[in-house]
Amino acid sequence: MTAILVTFARFYPIFELFMLIALQDITFEFGSRVILENSSWHIEPGDRVGLIGLNGTGKSTLLRIINGEYSVSKGSVNKSKNLTIGFFNQDLLSFETDDSILSVGMTAFGKALELEKEIERLTKELEHDQTEELLHQFSDALHEFEALDGYNMKHKTAQVLEGLGFTTADLERPYSQFSGGWRMRVLLARLILQQPDVLMLDEPTNHLDLPSIEWLERYLIGYNGAVIIVSHDRYFLDRMVNKIVEVYQQELHHYAGSYADYEVEKELRREMQQRAYENQQDYIRQQERFIERFKAKASKAAQAQSIAKRLDKLERVEQVDNGPSKIKINFTIDKTPGKILCTLNNISKAYGANQILKNTSAEINRGDKIALIGANGKGKSTLLRIIFGMESMEGERVPGHNVVTSFYAQHQLESLDLNSEILDELKNFGSGRTELELRQLLGCFLFTGDDVFKKIRILSGGEKARVALAKTIISQANFLMLDEPTNHLDMNSVQMLIDALDKYEGSLVLVSHDRYFVSQTANKIWEIVDGEIKEFKGTYAEYEEWKKRMAAQQAPASVKAASDNKKENKQAAGSNTTAAAASKGAINKEVQRELQKQQKQFSQVEGQLASLKERKANLEASLGDPGIYNDRTKFAQVESEYQDVLKYLDRANEQYEQLFEKIMQLEANLVTN
Ligand SMILES: Nc1ncnc2c1ncn2[C@@H]1O[C@H](COP(=O)(O)OP(=O)(O)OP(=O)(O)O)[C@@H](O)[C@H]1O
Ligand SMILES: [Mg+2]
Repeated sequence: MTAILVTFARFYPIFELFMLIALQDITFEFGSRVILENSSWHIEPGDRVGLIGLNGTGKSTLLRIINGEYSVSKGSVNKSKNLTIGFFNQDLLSFETDDSILSVGMTAFGKALELEKEIERLTKELEHDQTEELLHQFSDALHEFEALDGYNMKHKTAQVLEGLGFTTADLERPYSQFSGGWRMRVLLARLILQQPDVLMLDEPTNHLDLPSIEWLERYLIGYNGAVIIVSHDRYFLDRMVNKIVEVYQQELHHYAGSYADYEVEKELRREMQQRAYENQQDYIRQQERFIERFKAKASKAAQAQSIAKRLDKLERVEQVDNGPSKIKINFTIDKTPGKILCTLNNISKAYGANQILKNTSAEINRGDKIALIGANGKGKSTLLRIIFGMESMEGERVPGHNVVTSFYAQHQLESLDLNSEILDELKNFGSGRTELELRQLLGCFLFTGDDVFKKIRILSGGEKARVALAKTIISQANFLMLDEPTNHLDMNSVQMLIDALDKYEGSLVLVSHDRYFVSQTANKIWEIVDGEIKEFKGTYAEYEEWKKRMAAQQAPASVKAASDNKKENKQAAGSNTTAAAASKGAINKEVQRELQKQQKQFSQVEGQLASLKERKANLEASLGDPGIYNDRTKFAQVESEYQDVLKYLDRANEQYEQLFEKIMQLEANLVTN
């Protein structure tokens, strides 16, 4: 039936309304390695598809097939007429220019930009020569420009760029001044402004921080075309998609619903597959026993042979893939470092007016596995580089004895030698280990058998990250610095890394947004608060627990309770008979009055906060409604109100904290008086 539909669509354009791209029974191989076999996928307008699968299963390859970069060896790929595809992937990074990022973003409006120039030219010409024909041309150009929403292109570009984290001042800075991660954001902005019929995003969240991810979620929910997203971030997928396509055991598996729905359904399918597999194995064993018994017996030999043939032809049910097994070896270190790995004394660091660290000190001890957490832009990566010693700053950094450090960040992927094989890459790295040892280690990093002879050039994103991580961990280093190590990694690989770091005998500092990963790896938590390094000695779970307790103590009810308590204590302990006590009483009255005043303000701000939060939730609900994106004026209005509410909320929160501190201070005064 579907095959007929596809053929039909080629002759009857009406069918294109229902289908943008049809992959029908496709098979694709890299040499002898089958990536996809007999798989189909129909992409329809309005689809929000999460394309998932473990690292190296072929997600990026599939997007390249759809984009026309690779051809299939069997089956067909059909696209509706004039279909436009936007493809966001790492390759885009080869783009270079000195133009401002605003101009780069605006190139998305190719036609409107041309018209703008044309209008300029015509305006100049009209100053000398006002022929009818020129006037016509001018008015046509104006009309078309307006139809393309040309007057808004600058504004729209700025909005998208700012949504993706750029400041207004950034917009005029040259593209070439930005780092790889930020360039990717500009290119993403340009791509979504082009509004292609099918938008394919290969791991967009690797380049974004939380606010930008949230912005992208809001933007894409209302997107007019179909969106296909490859991501290992389940929260992002859960919010974004209504279909899941999984590359699993060389086939495409389709699921309706969000990522959470997929998980439920997947578990059912796994159980079914496992049962089918076990039943089939029982059957095979039974038949094999029969063959074994009768193959030498003349009267049954023919029957045994035909059973053997049937067994050969039997389509085998694959066993459920249970992910990698636990790592059994330890990642030993050569040299034991001194007790202190690094001391930071009175460190300050600022980027222009942005003060990241202010006269702060910290110490890293042997055995520490520290996770640096907190919002983007607080300087986590900067601090990591300061510890490593590759970032200028004020203050003193004292490295410990015998400390050998190794640094991992996203750009390490780019420093891999594309022409070498995985095993050679590790050998050349000079860790001094034998081939056997290296192969064993690579096994831990999920490269088994012939995988180790794969060329780096052909590795998938996650596979490259695993090679770079393997290099970092098996180096001679006894102190690792890891910046966002779980980027690119699927859930199995994240588990692998957790195991490897658990078996690593050295110390480490890592930056990560992945809460599960942090909770499984760190024994200390660092957070940068107001330019200071705050250390929590404990795991992430304990840190969260502690945060909750702190928040409960800060709750308004307990402010009052605390103040009541202290008043009672004071009354119980106090005596009003002496003159000193009388003077204290006067001071206390003063403090009391001030306290009441502050408490009144406190409850006012609390009220404001509550209504702002409600307003925010309502606006979020409006922005979450896809319908709003059809009405540009309304969308702009709601979006701008939403931004305002966020600003007010920030301000109110700040005020709330200040008042709270004041109240605490006054209460302390009451007690000491
Ligand atoms: N040109 C090539 N020649 C041979 N093999 C290749 C080539 N390109 C990719 N591969 C292999 O094909 C497999 C699929 O790669 P692909 O990049 O599509 O994976 P992926 O699912 O996107 O993985 P990831 O989640 O890590 O990004 C990988 O094992 C990779 O090593
Ligand atoms: Mg990929």
